[in-house]
Amino acid sequence: MDTVTGSAEQEKVPVNNAKSDAELSDMVLTSEGQACLRSLIRVWFEFERDLSNVPIVQRLESGRLSKSDYLLLLLNMRQQVIEGSRWITRSASSFERDYADVRSEVIGHAYDEHRDYEILEQDFINAGGKAEAITSARRNTGSEALHGFMMYRASQPNPVDMIGAMWIIEGIGNKMANQWAEHVRQLFATDNTAKFMSYHGEHDGEHMEELYRLIDRVCHSEDHLYSITRTAKVVARLYLLQLEEIDNENRK
Ligand SMILES: [Fe+2]
Repeated sequence: MDTVTGSAEQEKVPVNNAKSDAELSDMVLTSEGQACLRSLIRVWFEFERDLSNVPIVQRLESGRLSKSDYLLLLLNMRQQVIEGSRWITRSASSFERDYADVRSEVIGHAYDEHRDYEILEQDFINAGGKAEAITSARRNTGSEALHGFMMYRASQPNPVDMIGAMWIIEGIGNKMANQWAEHVRQLFATDNTAKFMSYHGEHDGEHMEELYRLIDRVCHSEDHLYSITRTAKVVARLYLLQLEEIDNENRK
């Protein structure tokens, strides 16, 4: 758990005592856990490479994002963020009594983040968007597929593979959000349009630490390794699709 308040209306308190990647790797002790970690790291590197080829991410990272691009980005991300509360709480409730400790971790994580969409909506409004536009927007094709897959996997008994899903989603917050927030702050020349990204940049290091702790706990076999890796790969592909669809659907 971090120092986040229960209400997104209150300011979330930034903390940054994140461990380095090497320190995190040292937390994984079993040979099965280490194999799982190596596999997840490979999935992450492929995802990071593909992410840098998504048009709206290229514009963001090269300082060519327009203000209307950013509004579209938030509007489309909001669907995944607000639905994220559902798949993570569904995952928690799918862990049976032998996984009660894992369930507790997942509940803590869900509690931390279940109202983050409110921060994102406020960024949208501060960036010049209308509240009705973001609250009434529909999921794009990629968000629809991502949400469907997440809810399907989260509904299985003891869905240990959701660790792979969290690996991708938390990885984005941990590795990308701070630099993306900086680009947005430069674009708007103000601090109050990128609070969602900067909050995740600050806090997802701790969430990654929780995930590293869970790897030994949930990966005990070849089957676990396969399902955790597969879910990480599917989530990575569908996350990319969600971002690609921002430009595809806006062109129609
Ligand atoms: Fe997180």
